[in-house]
Order: sequence, then C-alpha cells, then structure tokens
Amino acid sequence: MKRKLFPAALAAALWTSVSGLLAQTPPAVTPAPIQAQTRESPLFSARASQFADSVLKLMTLDEKIGQLNQSPGEGSQTGPRAPAGGEALVRAGRMGSFLGIWGADYTRGLQRVATQESRLKIPLLFAMDVIHGFRTIYPVPLAEAASFDPARVEFSARQAAVEATAHGLHWTFAPMVDIARDPRWGRIVEGAGEDPYLGSSMSAARVRGFQGGDSALSIGAPDALLATVKHFAAYGGAEGGRDYNTVELSERTLWETYLPPYEAAVKAGVVFVMSSFNDIGGTPSHASDWLLRDVLRERWGFKGAVVSDWGGISELIPHGVAANRGEAGILGIRAGVDIDMSDNVYIDSLGAAVRSGRIPQALVDSAVHRVLRIKYALGLFQDPYRFSDVARERRYTLAPEHLLASRLAAREGIVLLKNSSKTLPLRKDPRTIAVIGPLADDRRSSLGGWAADGHPEETLTVLAGVRAAVGPSVKVIYARGSPVDTADTTGFAAARDAAAQADAIVLVLGERESMSGEASSRSSIALPGFQLELARAVFHAAKPSAAFVQTDTTPKPIAVVLMNGRALAIPELAREAPAIVESWFLGSQHGAAVADVLFGDYNPGGKLPVTFPRVTGQIPIYYNHRNTGRPSDTANHYTSKYLDLPSSPLFPFGYGLSYTTFSYSNLRLSSATIGAGDSLEVSVDVRNSGDRGGDEVVQLYVRDDVASVEEPVKRLVGFQRIASRPGDTRTVTFRIRPESLALYDRQMRRVVEPGTFTVYVGTNSDDALTAHFTVTGDVLVLAPPPTRFR
Ligand code: NOJ
Repeated sequence: MKRKLFPAALAAALWTSVSGLLAQTPPAVTPAPIQAQTRESPLFSARASQFADSVLKLMTLDEKIGQLNQSPGEGSQTGPRAPAGGEALVRAGRMGSFLGIWGADYTRGLQRVATQESRLKIPLLFAMDVIHGFRTIYPVPLAEAASFDPARVEFSARQAAVEATAHGLHWTFAPMVDIARDPRWGRIVEGAGEDPYLGSSMSAARVRGFQGGDSALSIGAPDALLATVKHFAAYGGAEGGRDYNTVELSERTLWETYLPPYEAAVKAGVVFVMSSFNDIGGTPSHASDWLLRDVLRERWGFKGAVVSDWGGISELIPHGVAANRGEAGILGIRAGVDIDMSDNVYIDSLGAAVRSGRIPQALVDSAVHRVLRIKYALGLFQDPYRFSDVARERRYTLAPEHLLASRLAAREGIVLLKNSSKTLPLRKDPRTIAVIGPLADDRRSSLGGWAADGHPEETLTVLAGVRAAVGPSVKVIYARGSPVDTADTTGFAAARDAAAQADAIVLVLGERESMSGEASSRSSIALPGFQLELARAVFHAAKPSAAFVQTDTTPKPIAVVLMNGRALAIPELAREAPAIVESWFLGSQHGAAVADVLFGDYNPGGKLPVTFPRVTGQIPIYYNHRNTGRPSDTANHYTSKYLDLPSSPLFPFGYGLSYTTFSYSNLRLSSATIGAGDSLEVSVDVRNSGDRGGDEVVQLYVRDDVASVEEPVKRLVGFQRIASRPGDTRTVTFRIRPESLALYDRQMRRVVEPGTFTVYVGTNSDDALTAHFTVTGDVLVLAPPPTRFR
C-alpha cells in the first residue's frame, strides 16, 4: 500500500530534516553488515539441499515447472497487484515468484494464498528492480560509481535492502554491471561505466550491500535482499549503442573487459544471475550453455540460480535460433536458464518437452532444486510472512537516516568539470539568484530512471535546493528557458531577463531521465534541443557588452549544472561556461546535494567513470584502449586519428576537479624487481595544496610494457578516495598483486609475464606520475584457459 508520509511543504521539510542530521552526524560511512550466524551460506547448506530434495519428491511435474514461472504484477490505484488469473495460478502451484509486487500487507495476502490454499504450500518470492533505492532514492549507479567510494555504494545498497525488504520484497534485479564503452547506449546509466576494475569494485560492493555481507552468509536475515547480477553477458557491448543490439567482440575483450564485474559479483556471493537480451557473435545469451554453464558454473563455481530477462526466452524466436516457443523453452532450460520471467514459455511448454522425452526431467529438477533451496534459506518455509512486516515498513520508509545517506552519496557522486577563476563556490548572500533551465525543477528527472517506488513529490530539485540553501532573504528567480529536447525559444526572453537581473546564475541543462535507461539510446550525445542556444542567450544576457567568448571573465558567476545519464559531448559548453558541475541524477536529495556543492558546504571530489568525448563521432573512445602500431601523432599524417578532431577526449576517465588543489610527489615502489608471484607496494604523497578541505581519488594504473599480446595503454588496478585538510600531506599506499599484472596470453591462459611494467599514479587517467619495475623469472600461470567460446 502506498503511504504518503510527507503531505505538504515537502521540499522544505525534507531539506531541513536532513540538514539537521547532517550537522550532527559526521559524514563517515560504516556499512553495517548483518551479523552472519554461520560460516557457510544457508543457501548452500546440506540442510537446505536435503529439504529441497524432500520437497521435490512430493511435486508433480507441473508443480515443479510452476516454481520456475515468474509473472509481473500490475499497477492499480492501491499499489501493485497480481495480474488477472495470478492468484489462481498460485493456488494451482503454477507460480514460483512475482516481480514488481510489493507492500507488507499485500504480499502477506498472496503468501497466505500460496501457503494455505495450494497443495504443497510452497511460499512465493517477490522480486523487483530495486536499482538505486526503493522509496528513498540514491544516485543512479553511474553517479554512485563517480564517487569511487565502494563503502559508500555498499551502504546505499544496504539501506535500499532494508527499505525494500520491509515492503515484502526478497529479491532485486541489481546490480547491473555491464561495461559500457558507448555512451549512446542508454543503459550506461545503470552501470559503473567503462572500466572493468572500477566496475568490479562497484559490483561486489553492491552485492554485499543488498545481501548484507559477503558470500551470501547473511541470506535469511529479514533485511537481506537477494541480489541479481545482470545482464550476463556483455549487454553493454551493443553495436552502435543501440539497445538490445547484437554484440560483436573478440573472446579476449570479453574476458579482459566485460566479464570481470560479473565474476566479482559471483565471488561476492550473488544469489542470482540474469541472462542478457543480446547475442554474442551469433549466440543469444538465453541459449548459451557456454556462458551459463561453462563460464558461470564450471569456471566461476556459481551455485545460485539464473533468471531470464523479461521475455528473453521467447525472443530466441526472432533471434532466429528457435522456430517456436516450445523450442525456445528447450533451448533456455538446456542452456541453464532456471526461471522464466514474464514469458510463460516454461509453464506452457516444458511439461510436454519432458513428457515427450525431448529434455530429461533432471534438467527441470535441478532448476527447481535451486529455487527451493533459496526459499528455504530465506526462512520462508518456517515463516512465509517474515518479510511482510507492516511495522518495519512504517519504520524504514523514507527514514531520516536513509535520506541523510542519500544526500551524502549524492554529494560524493558530483563531478566538478570546470571552475575557471574560482567561479564556484557561490556566495550565499547575493540579492538575487537566477535558476534557469528545463531541468532545474524537474523532480522526476532528479530521481533518475528505475526509481522503484520513489515519488517525485518527495524529491528535491536544484531549484528547491538553492531556495533552501540561501533562505528567504535572497530572491530566487526561476525561468525554465526552453524545453529539454524540442526547438522552442519562447522561454528565452524570460531566461534573459532573469540572467540580467540576477547577481549569480545557476543554469541546469542536460537530459531528462527518460533519455537514458532501457530502450533509450541516442544517436547523438550532444546537449539536446535548444539548450546550447539557451546557454548562450543566458551568458550573453549576464554580460551583454562582452563578446561571447569572453564570458569566462564575467564577474557575474554562472554555474552550469548538468543532469544526464551518460557521457555528453559538450565542447562548446566546456569552452564557454565558467563553471560546470556534473550532477547526473542523484535521487531523493538531488537538489540538496547540488546546493551543498554550489555554495561550498561540500567540496566536490567525484571523478568521471566514463570518458567524455568531444563529439559523438569519436565513440568508441575509452582510456584503456590498445596502442596500435601507429598511435595518434599530430606531426605524422599516417597515424591513427581523425582529420577533423584531436585524438584526446574532452574529459578523460577519472577526471574531476575540486575547490582545493592536490599535488602529487615522491612516487616510490617497495622494490624495483619482483618475481611473477610477488606483490609490490606503491606509495605516493598527496598534499592538499589549496585552501580547503576536500576529497581526492588517487588512481593507480599499470601497463605491461612488452607482452606476448597487445595490452591496453594503461589499466586501472587501484584507487583510494581520501579526505584531507589544507596543508595536509597524506601518503597513499597501494599493493600491486599478481592479479593486477595478469593478462590473457595467446592460449588464453591468465598469466603474469616477466618484463618491465610502468606504474601510473595520479588524479585522472591522463595526469599521473610514473615509475617502473621489472618482473623476473618464468611466466606465472594463474588460471588455465577457459573452454572456447561457442
Ligand atoms: C528488462 C530489463 O532488461 C531488466 O534489467 C529488468 O530487470 C527486467 N526488465 C525486469 O524489470
């Protein structure tokens, strides 16, 4: 049941309650893992297995297949409900789980039908896309990745799990960990960007957060939410950045770049894996026994269950590998897809396939066994209502500590892209501030896509944040200026007026949240609509006498705040705007966090998890590319470059400024020579050389200088977000282990090869100190080759 906790004057109340807490609470993160009761996950215990065996023996084939069936809920005035005929299927033992149904009361009712009115009384699972929060919404995953702070990200996921489980949910379809090197792909917003190491750190952090700790040990606690790593595999490699598209990549790139974050989730104990809509080189994931069995179960030892993506099994028909739904079901279950989401293929056709001998019953049994084990581990057979607790629901929905953490997470995800002449922070005491732009008061966009049960009216926009920060004595003029993406200049005059009158200007530009996310790819990643023209009109009105290019010197501070779910190509803005704050979509506390940064209550320290190209045509552009035989050289025509564009990006991976400055010195290694199995320490001194406290993300990259295969020009292998006061020098130490140096050789063995390596430590992927060391001795084999892709 939806409950309106904040009826009126919501923005002010939200801001004030959190600001009060902010003043009392040190913004430190202490993720609180649930105290695991055992040293073995309840999921994999012998008891769970014996229990599943004993239930399986009692089941008819149809009841078994029912456990593999998942149906979506439907929206209604009073919240999500089972679809028509859904309850009857539950009663008949033909429904194992629902997605998109929540609410302590309502899930209790459905659970009662399952456990009192069905023959075998098997409880249901309730699942949902809790991607970046349930009712309290945290920053979108791309913004969370920009924090480079896995502890913070784990904490957000933990709180999201507390809130979601209080509403009767057992299971989320997150984290999405697809590496994305093409920002045209709208779903880049749901992941951690372009880098496998950052992506793996975020992947593991979010699994731990949702599930309440490592290795699925906490499964069974009433606030542990089962996580799903998705979309397996390489969904982010969609050709042309077009969603659902074919993925064409080499086996090496698949292993080096795309697979590591899924493996990290498996290592962290993720309970579910979701197969992806795409094919890789002609094999759709839902039919890929290589991915779902060889890689996932054999190589990585995954013991949880695989769920299809929505309709992914019947899509094997348009993929052209199944002639009809019956064949699609057979391909799916053979490949290793255990649960059929929203497709009804399994309940419609698997029974006949088993009865006619086309597939062995054992295939169905092992899938059902996994589902039963999970339900048992959650404690649902003992108490099916333990997650449907109205008191917990009331206690945790939009809890003040959740809103506070959402604001802290939001501040950490903000990236300062430009700040010429110390435009920012703004003073809080001008007479008038103009807040201009189509997104300045867009609550829905502030929340970001996939906002679960997030309510726009419980969300702070930039306009609300600015108003609350400056208080009633400052006049705040709001002008929308233009729509986001249509050609309409009728609002320009009001925007110009506002800019001319104001002492300071905040211009909020970018994309609506619906312009990224599923099925929301763009062919151009430029600023949409007439927003650049709006920016120019505002810059000009702010200083009418100055030529446009001179706005950098305008005394009237102008800050552009970007909201977007991908990298944008904004060369003109980057040149002409005095200050640019990248705010992505930050969730419930979006506007408060942006105001904290604009007025200097918080010093931004986020870094870009994706490269920002100069223009769309530069895609794909990513920092960890290979060097080629003819790396770009402006002095040499016959090198790898475009005639009409510099080779560098607009902003590199890992980039982000601060209101203070950091100077790096004294990069040193614990040894100049190591054996292939040894570790090495890398230390650097980072001095806060400016006049404010602030965070810096210290980044460590390596390169194997000469290897048996061509290695990326550099690879991120470590990072630390540190806080320091002005004048402080912090020594930051990293340990480089053999895994950091390993590559896939020509036989696809994972090896460390002897030779020289370069170490880069710095403030972004393009600005670093370097040092060198040598690995001596023989090649060290860390892992044998995987089975060949098929
Ligand atoms: C389709 C999306 O691809 C997937 O990410 C999501 O979890 C499911 N729909 C369920 O909503």
